Amino acid sequence: MRDEAEQIRQVQRIFNRVVPVYDLLNRVLSLHEDVRWRRFVSRSLRLGPGAKVLDVACGTGDLALAVAAHAQKPLVVGLDLVPAMLGPAQKKQRSSGARLALLAGDGTRLPFADATFDAVTIAFGIRNIPRRVAAMAEMNRVLKPGGRLYVLEFTAPQGRLVRALYLRYLARLLPWLGGLVSGDQASYRYLAETIMEFPPPPAFRQEMADAGLIAPRSHALTRGIAWVHVSERPLA
Ligand SMILES: C[S@@+](CC[C@H](N)C(=O)[O-])C[C@H]1O[C@@H](n2cnc3c(N)ncnc32)[C@H](O)[C@@H]1O
Repeated sequence: MRDEAEQIRQVQRIFNRVVPVYDLLNRVLSLHEDVRWRRFVSRSLRLGPGAKVLDVACGTGDLALAVAAHAQKPLVVGLDLVPAMLGPAQKKQRSSGARLALLAGDGTRLPFADATFDAVTIAFGIRNIPRRVAAMAEMNRVLKPGGRLYVLEFTAPQGRLVRALYLRYLARLLPWLGGLVSGDQASYRYLAETIMEFPPPPAFRQEMADAGLIAPRSHALTRGIAWVHVSERPLA
């Protein structure tokens, strides 16, 4: 178990460094599947006219922009701990004209009133937050009653062959390729470790329930490498 403060500093160091190559590495390391995963989340959102969506740990803005492109054209707020990650997000927002507001902030202390958002999303961010249950309790607080939380996250797949291949990819290829492009192999080794340590879907759904969310369910993408976990703020 890592020390929490040190883990947060490490996350800040890593994401400050990888900004220039972050999007490129996402595409290369996921064989472009990451674009499809974010589009899947956006299309899964149940939104009505005038909806507001919060994207926590928005990074360079790819999920926030995919959500802003939803048929209901919601107003999206993207929040990230590392201001440097928001630079590319701002550029993309300007060139696309998307209804997207960006701000720096901590997902465990959201600067919004209770019951503000119709949906909250977070992609590949929850595993970087040491106090996951506290963070999801905050997301629950800012959701309107009946609103949904969508968590897109990696998990080491359970099928024997895919798991063996994937663990090898995480332990060797990801740090090597990440290091080659970013010059920072240690950061990619750390990111690989956080994936290997992330709880399997049933345990993660229990964490959602511990955060006060109801009806947790999960959907596997790309043979269980990535998952979308969905749950709801109770109506009362
Ligand atoms: C792997 S990136 C994901 C970015 C983006 N959501 C995507 O799909 O590409 C993880 C992001 O989580 C952010 N992050 C880590 N801890 C956070 C926290 N406590 N609050 C808000 N953002 C956080 C990092 O700064 C980083 O931008």
